[in-house]
This record gives sequence, C-alpha cells and structure tokens, in this order.
Amino acid sequence: MVEPTLTVRGVEIFQEYLDRPAQQALLEELREAASQAPLFVPETPRGRRMSVRMTAAGKYGWVSDRRGYRYEPRHPAGGEWPSIPARVLEIWQAVTGLEREPDCCLINHYAEGARMGLHQDRDEADFGWPVLSVSLGDDALFRIGNTERGGRTESVWLKSGDVAVMGGEARLVHHGVDRIRPGSSSLLPNGGRINLTLRVVD
Ligand code: SIN
Ligand code: MN
Repeated sequence: MVEPTLTVRGVEIFQEYLDRPAQQALLEELREAASQAPLFVPETPRGRRMSVRMTAAGKYGWVSDRRGYRYEPRHPAGGEWPSIPARVLEIWQAVTGLEREPDCCLINHYAEGARMGLHQDRDEADFGWPVLSVSLGDDALFRIGNTERGGRTESVWLKSGDVAVMGGEARLVHHGVDRIRPGSSSLLPNGGRINLTLRVVD
C-alpha cells in the first residue's frame, strides 16, 4: 500500500507518484483517448465559457452546458467515450486498493490563464467512493477549503506526476485551481497542464 507524502485538510497527496517515463507513457494513452473524444470548451449553466477544455474516458463523461452539470454516456458531439486507459486504472487500483473501477476519467486541460473555481464534486451517487486526481505538465496552485461553504482555505502546488485523493472526511471538500505556473514543466510540448479525475458515478 502506498502512503501519502502530504495530507492537507484530509486530501492525501502522493507527490512524484509517477516518474517522468510513466508520465510520458500516460500522456501517450491520453492522446489516443483524446483523438477519439476531442477536447471541448464546456459552458456553465449560466452560459459562460469555462477556461479549461475537457473531455473524458469511461462509461460516463462529465459535461456542463445550459441544461446544467451532469454525467453523460456520450460526448457532446455524439460519439461514445473511449475506455479508461490501462495505466490510469493501474494508478487507481494501486493508490486506492479498490476492486471497483472508476466509471469516469475526466480529462481537463489548463492552458495559461485557465483556472477552476472552488467547488465540490457532488454529481456522483455515492460519496463513499473516493475521487482520485493525477496532475501532468505545469504546476497548479490547488486550493482546498471545507465541506461547508466558506471558511479558511489552504493551497498546495500540485506538480507533474502528483496524485491526490479526496476520500473519507475529505470527499466533499471544496477545491479549485487558482492558476497554473506556465513553463514550469516540459512534459507537454505546447505547455499547460492536464488533470485527470477518476470517479465512481453510479
Ligand atoms: C477538478 O476539480 O475537477 C480538477 C482539479 C484539478 O485540476 O486539480
Ligand atoms: Mn473537482
């Protein structure tokens, strides 16, 4: 069983979980997934374009548009989501120890200037399952708050190869990304950051 190197407000962080060759191999698998399910710019229910681009793999993808936030069995363009890459499932299994596989691997791309406001991941049926995130590319300033709205927050830089788990008491903490540090990683040829989040949906 792997142990976290840092715990912030119950969020367990496994720093440098993936070495550079493992990050590169994972990136290759993600490229293939994204060629089947292209990145798109989601809109918030209020009609604002999000600053991240998204796609997904697995039984469901998470989508947002004027009809709201939800999981969908198909890409907005109509096609099926690709299956979750084997290396992604390996990370889930090794870090969480769970037999149950995730239903969704959300793939977020942050270019310079992209961010994600504080939110909870709460569109899943059972909060007993953890959410696991993998960071690739540029560093991201990840902010962690509380299960309730408001109150103090703490921030931590997530780097390429880091894995974070929101589970147990920390499953419903508010979290977000204030900014990325452009040019801090050479992993992605065009810069930026990719974040994967794995969720059990049903
Ligand atoms: C998310 O909350 O969906 C993404 C978190 C991250 O980009 O690290
Ligand atoms: Mn989230």
